[in-house]
Amino acid sequence: MSEIKIPEVELNIYTPKDPVEVPIVENYICTKESSPNYVRHITFDIAGTELEGHVQVGQSIGILPPGENERGRPYKLRLYSVASPTKGENGKSNLVSTTVKRTIEEWDNNKLYLGVCSNYLADLEPGDKVKLTGPSGRRFLLPEQAEDFNYLFFATGTGIAPYRGMIMELLEAGIENEIILVFGCAYRTDLIYAEYFERMDEEHPNFHYVPYISREDRRHDGTKKYVQTCLWDDAELIDPVLNKENTLLYICGLKGMESGIYRALAEKGLEEYLDIRKEARDKQPGEWDENDLRRHVKPSDRTFVEVY
Ligand code: FAD
Ligand code: A2P
Repeated sequence: MSEIKIPEVELNIYTPKDPVEVPIVENYICTKESSPNYVRHITFDIAGTELEGHVQVGQSIGILPPGENERGRPYKLRLYSVASPTKGENGKSNLVSTTVKRTIEEWDNNKLYLGVCSNYLADLEPGDKVKLTGPSGRRFLLPEQAEDFNYLFFATGTGIAPYRGMIMELLEAGIENEIILVFGCAYRTDLIYAEYFERMDEEHPNFHYVPYISREDRRHDGTKKYVQTCLWDDAELIDPVLNKENTLLYICGLKGMESGIYRALAEKGLEEYLDIRKEARDKQPGEWDENDLRRHVKPSDRTFVEVY
């Protein structure tokens, strides 16, 4: 198999102590239909800053929301994955995009909590300025010679953000290898960037868009369809790709989703995607508890993970 070389990237050109202020140029809902999961595609104009040409898809940018927390300290930065290709949104090197989901939660005390930064960003209008830091992240990237590999991308929720840019980049480069995107969300209305991925699926025989709708679709046994169940439910499509020696696996989204994927991979004997330590080897994957999965089962060099 081709050597997996992760490119060198720039890190923390701008820090929380020394952020850069840039305007946003667009902010629109990017779910397929009206959804109570408010997810927005937001683009920043980084022209004339040191970020231009130095942000890779797979990295994140930091946002400093204005205001202070209850202890009177300035809010800390929040990270958001880059959703545009490395060469920039629409090929423009001054534009970098992300995908933001409003954090909205109701608590036992009947109070609604609105996440500080996601709601700040989602409320912005073109022309409004934002303090940016970054970029951050040095491993969740496409490798050098990216067209030499096949890809299985797993996403839940806004975890789809980096794959938008990565898939744009790979398809534009004319990749002939296979790309499978398995995207999990609760309801069909929550599909993110679905029109783009559906169109790419139609236009490119080697790109496969596989949505898993957890609260609408059911497996044969009546249980939920989660992204990891695709290893059984879509085995015909996925097995041949996973069994190739030049396939890379990416996992992005909800913290905890990686555990289910690791267990499913191990149950299918696909150990080349995992680094299974001795403590976990002494048990069957079905017997692994949370502790085993957290401490003794790690990604191998063919698996890339960004969960939050
Ligand atoms: P916060 O105000 O930080 O609240 C977060 C949670 O804390 C709430 O949901 C709540 O459970 C709890 N909480 C905090 N304060 C209170 C309180 N006073 N009362 C009750 N509950 C409270 N997000 C995206 O949308 N898109 C992305 O592409 C993305 N990429 C990421 C990449 C990385 C590497 C990481 C680490 C995170 C990423 N995130 C992304 C998550 C993002 O950084 C934020 O964590 C998220 O937007 C929530 O931030 P917030 O300020 O809106 O919410
Ligand atoms: P569910 O909520 O039905 O349990 P979003 O970020 O838009 O809420 O979407 C997250 C998606 O990931 C939902 O479909 C959610 O299903 C699903 N999900 C929740 N927990 C896991 C998990 N441990 N592994 C895989 N998918 C999960």
